[in-house]
Amino acid sequence: MNIEPLHTEFGARISGVDLSLELDQPTFAQIDLALNRHSFLLFENQQMNDQAHLDFTRRFGELEEEHVSYYSRGEITYMGTVGNIDADGNKVSARQIKSSTGNEMWHSDSSFREIPAMYSLLTAYEVPDEAGETAFASARSAYQRLDPSTRELIEGRVGIHDYIYSRTQISEDAVNQGQRTYMHPVRQRLVRQNPVTGERNVYVGSHVKEIEGMPDGEAKPLIKRLIAEVTRPESVYRHRWQVGDFVIWDNRCLLHCGCGYDADKYRRRMHQTRVRGAGPSIAESLK
Ligand code: OGA
Ligand code: MN
Repeated sequence: MNIEPLHTEFGARISGVDLSLELDQPTFAQIDLALNRHSFLLFENQQMNDQAHLDFTRRFGELEEEHVSYYSRGEITYMGTVGNIDADGNKVSARQIKSSTGNEMWHSDSSFREIPAMYSLLTAYEVPDEAGETAFASARSAYQRLDPSTRELIEGRVGIHDYIYSRTQISEDAVNQGQRTYMHPVRQRLVRQNPVTGERNVYVGSHVKEIEGMPDGEAKPLIKRLIAEVTRPESVYRHRWQVGDFVIWDNRCLLHCGCGYDADKYRRRMHQTRVRGAGPSIAESLK
């Protein structure tokens, strides 16, 4: 197994591993540690299928149920589909996947859940000939860049994350009745710490609408400034997808966003699973 850096701030490409086979424990432990250290791992030329994808995901912890079918219809599925291809393999129109353009805002997966996702695992089966990248940036490097007074200002603070808030920025009909009924704003720590490496990061993204106990006039510009700090252009890694790419990222300390593509012209079919976090972020302590 070979590990080489992808970007100066985070990320690694791992070669010499076939994820479709059951990995031995030492190999898995190396991958797990690399993920805690590098936050983003790329495995190329993989021959995955849903079963192998689910089995590998379970090695990291508990599967998180896919949120759209769960909150819309109470259905539990663990394999999410990303892109513009329906269950029968047909391409849907760009208009039909409009609500997924919410993914084009910088976010951390499931930060709107009381227990936010730890990792997301995404693999590409069909990719557009142009565009359709996913961009990533490190909220850990951003924390290191913050001045002492900003660090002090955010220490111990709580952000309010709200899916309905973020999705209705696109349009009022981007959320359905089930989602309005069952998805409530949740409290998340604004500063988190990796339990293995001890490194701190800010925890923000498109779902954050308020900071508890801070007037909006102060909180809104602060949220905006923190997201901008994480995602400054030189800190962003844009992943250009190839079929067979298998990517894992740490939602605790990275932000990501879709970069858009011509969904009327090209097919894009990717499958995604997520690993549930170890508990509510609010219960995590800083050492
Ligand atoms: C995701 C996501 C963006 C993209 O799968 O969680 O945000 O590029 N995807 O499709
Ligand atoms: Mn996402």
